[in-house]
Amino acid sequence: MKENIIIAGSSGAIGGEFTKKYTNDLNVEKVVTLSRNVNNHNHKKIQSIKIDYNNEETFKNLDEISQLDSISKVIIATGILHTDELKPEKSIDSIDGESMKKVFQVNVFGPILLVKTLLPLIKKSKGVKIAFLTARVGSISDNELGGWHSYRSSKSALNMMIKNLSIELKRLNKEHVVIGIHPGTVKSHLSEPFLRHVKHDVFSPKESVGFMTKVINEITHMDSGKCFDFSGKVIEP
Ligand SMILES: NC(=O)c1ccc[n+]([C@@H]2O[C@H](COP(=O)([O-])OP(=O)(O)OC[C@H]3O[C@@H](n4cnc5c(N)ncnc54)[C@H](OP(=O)(O)O)[C@@H]3O)[C@@H](O)[C@H]2O)c1
Repeated sequence: MKENIIIAGSSGAIGGEFTKKYTNDLNVEKVVTLSRNVNNHNHKKIQSIKIDYNNEETFKNLDEISQLDSISKVIIATGILHTDELKPEKSIDSIDGESMKKVFQVNVFGPILLVKTLLPLIKKSKGVKIAFLTARVGSISDNELGGWHSYRSSKSALNMMIKNLSIELKRLNKEHVVIGIHPGTVKSHLSEPFLRHVKHDVFSPKESVGFMTKVINEITHMDSGKCFDFSGKVIEP
């Protein structure tokens, strides 16, 4: 059976590349793209739906896909590190409550509420693979530098939601798989202000998505609840 795939954050560098990759895949029937600005990408396989994590009313727009028979994958490639109004904090004394809430709204609350809204579709599907874009900096055991308090801790919280979701979905159908995936450092709007400090490889979105689709293809229900990097290595919590 051909696949129906949902991609959140399709306007972003990584989400946009996943959209291209799956749209060109002959095994894929339909790609549902979720973003704040509807964009049909001029392709007959794509159905574009407006979603804004800052406005929960927009989740009702997902009713448009309630008639789908099943879905095979959900890729959640949304996230913020900085906006015009906020920057990642270097020290605890620069934490601002409102900014921190905005980061958690987009990086944790939005993604998990999105999956909650998709539950009826997940329940009627078998072996759905759900991949949340996380970040290595969300690993508590890997944290040696500190800083980026809101972003880092939002990704740690997201990783906990991934684990919780994996436990619940296993009870529904043991073939469902939920993972977090770290894309590497990738050229994008999110990473752009920080790239000049990076000493390791910086991937193009195409390279990173090429690596990540391989990981997503290879994971099984035994991997559910874990976080991986782009090369398929487990990132310890
Ligand atoms: N790039 C990297 O080096 C890197 C490294 C580690 C992890 N990641 C993770 O990878 C994911 C994708 O990042 P990216 O590099 O592709 O960044 P990006 O190009 O800035 O894309 C971010 C996406 O998030 C969406 N978004 C932001 N605020 C939203 C909101 N309120 N409601 C719904 N969607 C919203 C954006 O939509 P709009 O276009 O509407 O703003 C955009 O589609 C993120 O989770 C990020 O944390 C990236």
